[in-house]
This record gives sequence, C-alpha cells and structure tokens, in this order.
Amino acid sequence: MLKRTHNCGQLRAEDADKKVVVEGWVHSYRDHGNLVFIDLRDRQGITQLVFNPDTRPEAHKLARTARCEWVIAAEGVVQPRSEGMENPKLPTGQIEVAVQRLDILNVAKTPPFELDGAEKTGEELRLTNRYIDLRRPDMQNRLRVRHNVTSVVRDYFDKLGFWEIETPMLAKSTPEGARDFLVPSRLVPNSFYALPQSPQLFKQILMISGVDKYFQIVRCFRDEDPRADRQAEFTQIDVEMSFVDSDDVITVNEKLVARIWKEILGIDVQLPMRRMTYKEAVDNYGIDRPDLRFDMKLKDISDLAWQTSFKVFTSTIENGGVVKGLCAPAGDHYSRSDIEKTLTNFAADYDAKGLAWFKVKTEGEQTSLIGGLAKFFTGELQQQLLQRFDAKDGDLLLFVADSEAVANKALAPLRCRIARDLKLYNPDAFEFVWVVDFPLFEWNEDEKRYDSLHHPFTSPVEQDMDKLETDPANICSQAYDIVVNGSEIGGGSIRIHNPKTQQKVFDLLNISRQQARDRFGFFLKALEYGAPPHGGIAFGLDRLVMLLTKTENIRDVIAFPKTQRGQCLMTDAPSEVDPKQLDELNLRVQKHSHITEDKTDDSK
Ligand code: AMO
Repeated sequence: MLKRTHNCGQLRAEDADKKVVVEGWVHSYRDHGNLVFIDLRDRQGITQLVFNPDTRPEAHKLARTARCEWVIAAEGVVQPRSEGMENPKLPTGQIEVAVQRLDILNVAKTPPFELDGAEKTGEELRLTNRYIDLRRPDMQNRLRVRHNVTSVVRDYFDKLGFWEIETPMLAKSTPEGARDFLVPSRLVPNSFYALPQSPQLFKQILMISGVDKYFQIVRCFRDEDPRADRQAEFTQIDVEMSFVDSDDVITVNEKLVARIWKEILGIDVQLPMRRMTYKEAVDNYGIDRPDLRFDMKLKDISDLAWQTSFKVFTSTIENGGVVKGLCAPAGDHYSRSDIEKTLTNFAADYDAKGLAWFKVKTEGEQTSLIGGLAKFFTGELQQQLLQRFDAKDGDLLLFVADSEAVANKALAPLRCRIARDLKLYNPDAFEFVWVVDFPLFEWNEDEKRYDSLHHPFTSPVEQDMDKLETDPANICSQAYDIVVNGSEIGGGSIRIHNPKTQQKVFDLLNISRQQARDRFGFFLKALEYGAPPHGGIAFGLDRLVMLLTKTENIRDVIAFPKTQRGQCLMTDAPSEVDPKQLDELNLRVQKHSHITEDKTDDSK
C-alpha cells in the first residue's frame, strides 16, 4: 500500500525531482489521448497529476478509467510544468507529479452535483449529500475557520484562568424565551428533561460553587423556526465571572473578539469598542442591533408632519403614532415603480401600511421636494424637512406613519436594504458596538404583564433597585449586547445575586411563587447559600463564523445543519420511532398532526 508523503496543497517548484506519494479525490480529469491529467484534491488543495503512456503505460491505462470523486493514491516524481502550462491561481500551479504508480483506493458513484459551482445547486441536494458538499474548498474553509475560532477561544480563556466546564444536556427547562425541546424519561415515567436553551442557571450555580471564572463551547437548543441566522440547535461560547461589573465582562470579551479578528482575518479591531445606549440605537436605527457601516439615521418628523394637511400623517400622530423616516443619498436611482412597488412591498412585509416618499430636486438656487405628497408641505416645511436630513439634490426621503414600534420595525430593515442596493458601505468593513442600558422589562400587551428584555436573571442597575416596587417600566438593566454589522453576536448581563430581588423580578413577570418554586426552586435555594456578585455573556459561535467567512446563511457554517423545517436531510431526522420505544417511554402518538406557529422573535 502506498503511504502518503505530501498533501495536495504542499508541493512547490523547489520540490522538483522529489519522489512523492499523494492521496485524495479526483477533482477533474482530462484525457488528451496521449497524456492524461488528473487534478487530485484533498483538504489542503489541488495537485496536478500527469500520466504518460510511453513511460508508465500501466498507470496511464488505469488513469483513463478514473472518474470524479474516486479516491486514489499516486506515486511519482515532482516536475515543473511545461512552459505556458503553469497555473498562477493554484499554490501548486508551478508543478505536477509525473505518476509512476496509481492505486485506485475506492470508486465513487457519479456525484449528484459538481463541486465546482455547487453554490448554484439547490441547497436541498447539497444538504442531502452533505459529505460531498463538505468536500468543497469553500465549505472546508468554513470548517477550518470554525475550528480556529474555538482554538483561539480555548487558549484565550485558559490563559486568563477560566475553566471549561460541561453542563448537562438533559436538564430542566430554563427560560430564554423560546420553546423547549423535551426528552421523555424512561426511568421516571411521565416526566421530561428539557434540552438546554442555554446553560444560564448552571453557569450561575457554578459561580455560587466558587468556580470564579467559567467558559464553555456549548450546544444550545431552542424550538423556534430556523431563519437565515438562527438554528434550533446552535453553539454558544458561554462565559461567566464572579466579583465583576459590566465593564469587566465587556473588557475581557471585547479583547477576545479582537483576538479572533486578528488571528482569523489579520484585522486590528480598535479597542475599546464603541458603546451605544439602547435608546440611541432604537431612535436612530430603529433596532437594538444597528448596522453602523453606514450612517443614514432614522429621524422622527412628527413635529413637521403634524403641520401638514396630509391626513394619513396627522391622524397617525393624533392616535399616538409617529412619522419617521430616512434620507437615502442619491436615492433617485429608484424609479417611481421601484419605490411604490418594490420598496413599499418590502416595508409591508414588516407591517408598514404604506411608504410615503419625496425626491429632492435642486433647480437653480432652489432645492425642494417632488412627488405626489409634496403639495401637502408648504415651502417652509419643505425647507425644514430638507434641513433635518441635510438632504441634497438627488436624495430620496422615505417615511412610515404608524406606531413607533411598527415604524421602527419596517424602517430598520429598509435602511439596510437601501444601503445594500445603493452600495453605501464597504462590504469588507466591520463595525463593532456594545449596546448598553437596556430596559429591564418590556410590557406585554397581549398577556398584560412584563417580559424580561434579556432574561429574568439580569440585574437592574443599583440606582433603579427601588423602582422594582414603584416604576418597573423604567428600570435600566445591567445587560449588554455586542453587535457587528447589524448582527447580534453576543449578549449578557450582570446577574441578580440576591434571592429577594430575584423573587421580586419573578413576581413582576407574573411567575407565581408556586411556578417559581417548581421551575427554579433549585436555583432560588442556591442563591440563598452565598452567591457572589457575578455576570457573563454568551456569543453565538455560528454567527461569529458567518461574519468571519462572509456568509449570510447559518447553514454554511454548521457541518450538519437543519433545514427551515428543522429536518436533517442527510439522516432524515426527525423520524418516526419504533412503537416499542414509545411503549418503554409510556408515550402514545396521536396520528393527526398540528404545527404550532412560531411566534418567538429574537430581533428584540
Ligand atoms: P442569548 O439568548 O442572547 O443569551 O444568546 C446569546 C447569543 O447566542 C446567539 N443565538 C443564536 N444563534 C443561532 N441560532 C439561534 N437560535 C440563536 N439564539 C441565540 C446570538 C446571541 O447573541 N444565557 C444568555 C447569555 C447570558 O446572559 O450570558 C443567552 O443565551 O448570537
């Protein structure tokens, strides 16, 4: 049996005349009648093999039978490629291996898609045959980056004295706002484990246990509908520290991010990272995870809209709503039909009932608004509007009149879409920001109670503790999110370490004493045995790798991901099980099915 001496990305001109053995997959072959060429591929790269019928007729004959994705081993001598045949795009492009012996290690069926250009193949086919898809250099690169990130993380935290500690997968439900995946217990009939939505309570209990500094690269499970950046099964870099304040947690963790960017991309991230309050983010960008690669801030123009004779504007304001919008620089690139169909439909997908627009035109000395609604604005109001946005000839102004929440919900993605259409940012840039000073609660109108904006274990700021009794809506929390280019890559907080405060928060969330005891009794009890002040964070590893490898599809950075319907197309999970298994678990399956609509929303 031949034994590999070099990988397929290794050989260079200096290796000429060396006798080598390379092994891998047939990436492509060209039969020139006389010479046969095979591009041999492995994880490291591609090496050209050449078979000459005059010198090695046997190897040549066998090479003619080889097909794509067959696994072969080739022994031969490295030689410079003949003049004009070099391939400067390949690191091995100066050489080829003149093969003396060829071993076919395995044949392969014709792959269902070609590796080159596979990104144009339907994703379903790629997911069904993931082992072939993962052979593509792009996918291998993503796996490599993911591995490199976790190596950096482990090294970074180890040097700072953090311990990596595993927490249970078969656990009790802890609320992160999503639905649980349940696992029936055989030994305790009629009871269930929940797969962890995050190790939140375990990491806090580790602080109570005196661990001081913990991290874990950990799988989390949330039964919510997958999206472009969301999977039901995903990975967190989970961190917790004792005797710290928010600044300590932020500092340690932004240094980690900077180190990852340096080691993976060679990019120096400026520290300390910028910080922005939740209010600033929502007012100016309509969202708590703003993309700061471009400016285009949203502005509330209700004060001006109120003075117009346009009923849609005035009645919205009368009913407590706002008129809010943005100015797209050189937005007259959009035709009237682009605006009234494409952009308006886009905004409608986010619940906006309409999109009011004006184009800005300068004629001679005079800059004014044009478009169907301009007539409702007096000359003076037009000037004030132009000034507010610093609008110039050729700009496009777009407005949503609605409740503030709907206006923000529609304008935030519209802002990003327009920036992309108009190429307002450098796609290679990274803009980092910590969003801080979140409210502790938001009011849930449907259920008539407060919800935690982060989770129920987040501490209020010291000076707002009294407001737990008097003014819960206006409590500022000690939570922080880290956002890169509009993607929330991590979030955490300083936790409540006082059991009485924790109980008060449960009360406000309308979690009864009984429920609190049933669900978190173990935790409330632990808090009573000397919990140190503590706090932490969790990063979404998948989202980090998406940014580092420039993909917008979370499935690209997970070796074996699930589809939109939560299925693994390769293994066909989830699937029915043997009735015997159900019997053992004391379960019965109802044959008619109903699917609950997913109402969870991590866009907070
Ligand atoms: P949070 O719920 O904000 O916090 O999650 C932390 C980070 O995990 C990533 N993330 C996801 N990535 C992919 N698919 C998902 N379904 C998904 N959900 C979340 C995001 C997010 O910022 N226990 C707290 C952390 C803490 O307080 O320490 C928690 O889980 O990048």
